[in-house]
Amino acid sequence: MQEPTTPPATQTPPEKPEKEEEGEEGQRGSYEKPPYEDELQAALAAEIAKTAQETGKEVSLSAKKKIEKRLRGDFKKKYKKPTPTASPAPAAKAPELVRLVEPATPAPAFKIHTLQLHATQRVSVFGWVHQFRQQGAKLAFVVLRDGTGFLQCVLGAPMIQSVDFPKISREASVRMVGTLRLEARAPGGVELAVDYWELIGTSAPDLETKANADSLPDQLLNNRHIVIRGETSSSVLRMRSRMLFELRKFFFERHFEEVTCPTIVQTQCEGGSTLFPLTYYGEPAYLTQSSQLYLETVIPALGDVFTVMPSYRAEKSLTRRHLAEYTHFEAEMPFISFENLLQTLEDMICTVVERMLTQYHDEIHLLNPEIALPPRPFLRMTYADAIRWLQEHEVWKEPETKTPYTYGDDIPEKPERFMVDTIGRPIFMTRFPLAIKAFYMKKCPDNPIETESVDVLMPGIGEIVGGSMRNHDLEDLIRQYQANGIPPEKYYWYIDQRKYGTCPHGGFGLGVERLICWLLKQEHIRTACLYPRYMGRATP
Ligand code: 4AD
Repeated sequence: MQEPTTPPATQTPPEKPEKEEEGEEGQRGSYEKPPYEDELQAALAAEIAKTAQETGKEVSLSAKKKIEKRLRGDFKKKYKKPTPTASPAPAAKAPELVRLVEPATPAPAFKIHTLQLHATQRVSVFGWVHQFRQQGAKLAFVVLRDGTGFLQCVLGAPMIQSVDFPKISREASVRMVGTLRLEARAPGGVELAVDYWELIGTSAPDLETKANADSLPDQLLNNRHIVIRGETSSSVLRMRSRMLFELRKFFFERHFEEVTCPTIVQTQCEGGSTLFPLTYYGEPAYLTQSSQLYLETVIPALGDVFTVMPSYRAEKSLTRRHLAEYTHFEAEMPFISFENLLQTLEDMICTVVERMLTQYHDEIHLLNPEIALPPRPFLRMTYADAIRWLQEHEVWKEPETKTPYTYGDDIPEKPERFMVDTIGRPIFMTRFPLAIKAFYMKKCPDNPIETESVDVLMPGIGEIVGGSMRNHDLEDLIRQYQANGIPPEKYYWYIDQRKYGTCPHGGFGLGVERLICWLLKQEHIRTACLYPRYMGRATP
């Protein structure tokens, strides 16, 4: 690490110090270890080994903890700053605190991700203190974060004698000004030799108690507004943003139009059991389960269309892949065949994943070291084949009685996951029975008890996409409403679609958080979105 360049100080007369200098290596508001930690760990290992040798048996966990406690006490004492005695040795006088004055040299503001282009220039950077470390009485390091990257800032004298210096702690907001210099070991390849800085907002000391390595999941979720500032969570959110961009790009490149659909509706799309009811000016209404029905009405107006909207499901389960509100990427295409639909899905998933891996290789690998492009073509498996697979692999519907799954059963999350994890590659599961699928699905021409439907299953997460060809026959659709016990009156606009220029068409819905879980190896869907909504949580 180079020494910081200390610019000629332009300062106002010194003020009375607000706080004594720390005088030894110290850290404020950082999870970093104390300076003697490595030495302590080495001593601990040696002592444990010695005890094991003396007693001839392995040292228990509680004994190890006792040894560690004792050693920590010893080290704390050993490294403690000597307390001044009545007749202290003549000590160097602590430098007095000063008010910094900004040098007149121009310092244009830049975002951190652009700084390599400005190496050796004098710049200003705004951001939050991600890490703070003081080294001796003359040097401090701030790792600044602005959402686009991290910047190491080096503060020497008189920067660390600023009246505001004692108020720097993790997450304070600051403006750092100085000259950039190349430093291969610093994040981003440059560091800032600070010659002026300003405190914009302090960060309260209770920050460290809000969320830390020992916090329970619920505490982390209550404080998700703080947790998202961390490196992993912010990286997931950034990759999510880029993935949504790539999804949109894929469809815009193919001349799709994006539309925005209402989320307050008076119809159901995916069955009554997961509807969120609400009273809308005295009338019954629901939060939408899917924008699909509206997308279908737009194809005669705009042709191929897609939408990115929240969908709501009143799921009673708290599984690691279910949310009550999720981001639904849906598309609808007129005049296509079922085969066209499957091709579009495979192209979309593979193109988006490939572009993500090419552009964000390092960031994605940090989160998911095993990530690889899905092999093409995706395995095709009918629902009937999947039932046979479960039977052959003795995956029981009721393990106690060894009752097998049979044709017509819903395949729940667990067996579905087991199957796709065992097969270990993406699967197009097709041709679900009409009896277990939604009213709008098109029947297979060669077997009307099955539908032209598909679920895309990915290892590690299971279903990420549900899609189908739609029933575009007016009379058959009315029969399907009756068969499902749905009064068709509220769907007049959907039925009109079949009355005025019907056409074969199909589409799909992708659960954005589920694709994120797969791509970024998120154990739980709750970390794949900003503020998760699930049974019992609507905060923050
Ligand atoms: O399979 P689903 O229910 O299909 C539909 O909603 C169709 N109307 C979509 C269409 O054809 N336009 O849901 C589609 C996808 C699922 O594959 C899953 O990825 C996601 O939406 N999904 C959920 N994601 C998180 N939490 C939930 N509770 C979800 N329910 C479905």
